[in-house]
Amino acid sequence: MIKTIFLFVVIVALLVLLGSGIHLYRVAQKNAYEMAKFENIEIKAEPKTGKTLVVYYSLTGHTKEIAEKIAEYTKADIFEIKTVENFKADVFFYVNIRKQLKSGKYPELAGNMPDFAKYDTIFVGGPVWWYAPATPLLAFLKKADFKTKKVVPFSTQGSNYGSFFVDFKQMVYNAKLRPSESFNNLPKKYDRAVNNKIISWINSIN
Ligand SMILES: Cc1cc2nc3c(=O)[nH]c(=O)nc-3n(C[C@H](O)[C@H](O)[C@H](O)COP(=O)(O)O)c2cc1C
Repeated sequence: MIKTIFLFVVIVALLVLLGSGIHLYRVAQKNAYEMAKFENIEIKAEPKTGKTLVVYYSLTGHTKEIAEKIAEYTKADIFEIKTVENFKADVFFYVNIRKQLKSGKYPELAGNMPDFAKYDTIFVGGPVWWYAPATPLLAFLKKADFKTKKVVPFSTQGSNYGSFFVDFKQMVYNAKLRPSESFNNLPKKYDRAVNNKIISWINSIN
C-alpha cells in the first residue's frame, strides 16, 4: 500500500514538473519570437508626450526598471507608489493578495498623490498579480482623478497579463487612454530589444 502511494506521488510530481517545463519552454519561444522584431533595429526616442510623468508600483524591481527607461526616453518626472505596509513575496503574501483582489480592500498608500495638473501625459504601470493589476496600483487608480489627461498604461508580468488592461481601463474612465504596452520578465540578453520595444511604443504615442 505504502509503495503504491509513493509511486502515485512520484508520478504526480513528475507530471507537474513536465507540465511546468513545457509551459516555460513555450513562454521562452513566444518571448524569442516577439523580441526578434526589436533586436536588430536602430531607433531614436522621439517622444511627443509633452510634459510627462511616469507613475509606477514595483515590489521586486521589474516595473521600476521599465518605468525608469520610459522616464529616461520621455525626459519625464517619476513617481513611485508606496504602501504603508512593507510586503514580502512569500506564500502567505500570494494568498493575502488573492483575498484583497476578491474583497476590493486594497493596501493603504503612503505619502501624497502627485499633482497631475502639471503634466500632459501620465504613464502608469505596475506588476500583474493574479492576472490583475497589483493591489497597490488598484489603490492608486481608485484615488487618482486624471480628469481628461492622457494616460498610458503599462504592465510587467511573468507571462500572462490576464485582465490587467481591462481592469485598468474601468478605473480611469474619464482619462484619454493611449496605447498600452506589456513587458514579460526577460533575461539580460534581451535588454537591447526591450529598449527598442519601449522606444517604438513611446514614439507611437501622441
Ligand atoms: C502575488 C503575485 C501574483 C502574480 N501573478 C502573476 C500573473 O497572474 N501572471 C504573470 O504573468 N505573472 C504574475 N506574477 C509575476 C509578476 O507579475 C512579475 O514578476 C512582475 O514583473 C513583478 O514586478 P515587480 O518586480 O515590479 O514587482 C505575480 C507575482 C506576484 C508576487
